[in-house]
Amino acid sequence: MSSVAPEDPAAAVRGIGRRVQSGVYRAGISGRAPVVPVDAAALEAAARRATSAEAFAYVAGGAGAEHTVAANRAAFDRWQVWPRPLRDVSSRDLSVSFLGRTRPTPLVLAPLGVMELMHRDADLAVARAAASLAIPYAVSNQASASMEQIRDAAPDAPRMFQLYWSSSDDLNASLLRRAEASGCEAIVVTLDTHLLGWRTRDLDLAYLPFVRGLGIAQYTTDPVFQQLVRERAGRPATDAEPVRITPQTIAAGISIARKGAPLTGAGLRDNLRSPLPRVAVETFLDVFSTPALTWDDLAKAREWTTLPIILKGIVHPDDAARAMDAGADGIWISNHGGRQVDRSVATLDVLPEIAERVAGRVPIVFDSGVRSGADAVIALALGATVVALGRPYAYGLGIAGERGVAAVVQNALAELDITLGLAGLTSIAALDRGALRAV
Ligand code: FNR
Repeated sequence: MSSVAPEDPAAAVRGIGRRVQSGVYRAGISGRAPVVPVDAAALEAAARRATSAEAFAYVAGGAGAEHTVAANRAAFDRWQVWPRPLRDVSSRDLSVSFLGRTRPTPLVLAPLGVMELMHRDADLAVARAAASLAIPYAVSNQASASMEQIRDAAPDAPRMFQLYWSSSDDLNASLLRRAEASGCEAIVVTLDTHLLGWRTRDLDLAYLPFVRGLGIAQYTTDPVFQQLVRERAGRPATDAEPVRITPQTIAAGISIARKGAPLTGAGLRDNLRSPLPRVAVETFLDVFSTPALTWDDLAKAREWTTLPIILKGIVHPDDAARAMDAGADGIWISNHGGRQVDRSVATLDVLPEIAERVAGRVPIVFDSGVRSGADAVIALALGATVVALGRPYAYGLGIAGERGVAAVVQNALAELDITLGLAGLTSIAALDRGALRAV
């Protein structure tokens, strides 16, 4: 099944606020309330009910005591929107220019790995939902489907590919080649995960999806990675600690075997006997990230791709300046939703300073803590070019698959549209600091 992108994306979002609102109230007359809650806290609670304890912990959790997760939200409390009546806002334009094209709305979807934890259709459902609203979607390096499968789910939809810079340059180059060949518009290099953050909830559950073969589809379908796996399989095994066989080990073994199909071309039965799926997980854990990465290394990406390069995980104004010096085509302000550093600075707190340094030279993508259309209005007014939704769409996916993602995005757009109008403005272009009051 593939979705059809709207023929006229701008028309598809025109008047979205009133349309979504009246759709909900009309359905209410026949006793139907939204399956995907509109309220952010209720959305999260519904996703918690719809998913396993491990899946929910992985998605909702942050680093340490989750002070950064809270700080990202608290930063929004320091700004208020000025309501301005009597300005004829009957027609509103949500479009923005991003990466050389006019986009019908200022939202994008952040890269989220391992979405099979939320729903079996995972990234394919997300891609279709994004396509239906012409929202650019950043496909994760840790996706549950390959970038080619994701393209096939929504062929003409705007996509970016997010790279985790692995310790194998051949693999990095191969992933970027595939991204280009599969029609991605840009490469997003995530810089903040050169070490995996100290994720308390996952640690207490002793749960990391990758060691079960989840979220490594970009790797198992990659020819360079497959070669690394074969080479490793040919080497004598090192003294690994013996694994105690429990029902959980067996379940993990089956999960790993199932995910090994792209490597072996075989079915589950054969994969259970083949060492390759297990070696693939070990190879992944070896190459996943490289704490030795420096600014100088980044230059290599230019040789690997002609696509625009956006650097994700920028929170210091000096790093934003350095990124521009290094020739980055865009800056993605993010602290990974508080999943990497506890007690980190909140992204909204540094957005104005970074926007000042960037001074319109490259686009700014903003994320971490955006939970509503009103939040997006604040980030846009403070200098973001586009705003990325993260966890909320994962929650929608967990509750209702593709429809759930679409509902979450629609609700955010509807509130954005209505808030813009109530602030007395008719376009995103008109949104600036004057629309806000600092608290
Ligand atoms: C992420 N994020 C992320 N970022 C990235 O560059 N590559 C990835 O694979 C992932 N995977 C991922 C999985 C899950 C479950 C979450 C919650 C987040 C970070 C993501 O792109 C974004 O920066 C944050 O989600 C923003 O924070 P909020 O708004 O979701 O809290």
